[in-house]
Amino acid sequence: MENPTQPSLRPDYGIDAPGVVRNLLVVGSVALLMCVVCLVLPRTDWTHSLARLGAQLAVPFLGMGGYMFYSSKYDKVREREWLLDLKPGGWRGDETVLDVGCGLGVMLIGAAKRLTTGAAAGIDIWQTQDLSGNHPERTLENSRREGVADRVTVKTADMRQIPFPDDHFDVILSNAAIHNLYKVDERAAAVREIARVLKPSGVCILADVRHESQYAGVLRTNGVTDLQRRDTSIASILFAIISLGRARPFVLIGRKPPASS
Ligand SMILES: C[S@@+](CC[C@H](N)C(=O)[O-])C[C@H]1O[C@@H](n2cnc3c(N)ncnc32)[C@H](O)[C@@H]1O
Repeated sequence: MENPTQPSLRPDYGIDAPGVVRNLLVVGSVALLMCVVCLVLPRTDWTHSLARLGAQLAVPFLGMGGYMFYSSKYDKVREREWLLDLKPGGWRGDETVLDVGCGLGVMLIGAAKRLTTGAAAGIDIWQTQDLSGNHPERTLENSRREGVADRVTVKTADMRQIPFPDDHFDVILSNAAIHNLYKVDERAAAVREIARVLKPSGVCILADVRHESQYAGVLRTNGVTDLQRRDTSIASILFAIISLGRARPFVLIGRKPPASS
């Protein structure tokens, strides 16, 4: 049995968009309640219509809120391993890695676990509306709990101005982060920065819930010409359906050509 005085040594990677999850679950629960109340009241045209409306709202709201909570809380590590396995050519162990919008470090730390002599850096501005408990000290604590603190660094920095030189990283990762920039030109600036700091022959793996064609276009025009799209899991496809197409999870894998070509 767990000792309540002993802190858990498992990493905590937080809940993505906690306010959105809360709102979806609250609206879905109210709609479900309205549906149930109308079903137990004597049947009239009104109760019938309200019960139907309640059910129609409860399914997508509870479905999406529940999926977002479940995937953040229980599925992040499996998802990150799947994403890291997508790196073409596998991992050598000596790569320099950047995680853009690293949050509490799920990708950053997963990459660091695949390194031997390499190093992994994460940048973020630590917005708690995007990730619960977001703080650099908690990311470093997660790296200690996962046994990779010697290979992990974090920096407070905006992805629109990545504080590293050109052609610096072998691998750049970004998961569910760039869409948090709401303006087209701001997202373009972030993706341009990713292309700039990626080494020739380097690989970027960008997973997000929207704006796939924009990221692909900006990568291509900034020298990351070898692009592949990977389909995400069945659960993500369900997510797209439940969100009525507002979110379309995708993964883009880009490679910069070698310096000589
Ligand atoms: C949904 S969280 C995802 C965190 C992490 N990548 C993961 O997979 O758990 C989005 C992250 O993007 C970060 N972020 C948002 N805007 C940013 C910006 N302009 N520059 C750097 N990070 C940003 C947030 O602070 C947050 O940590």
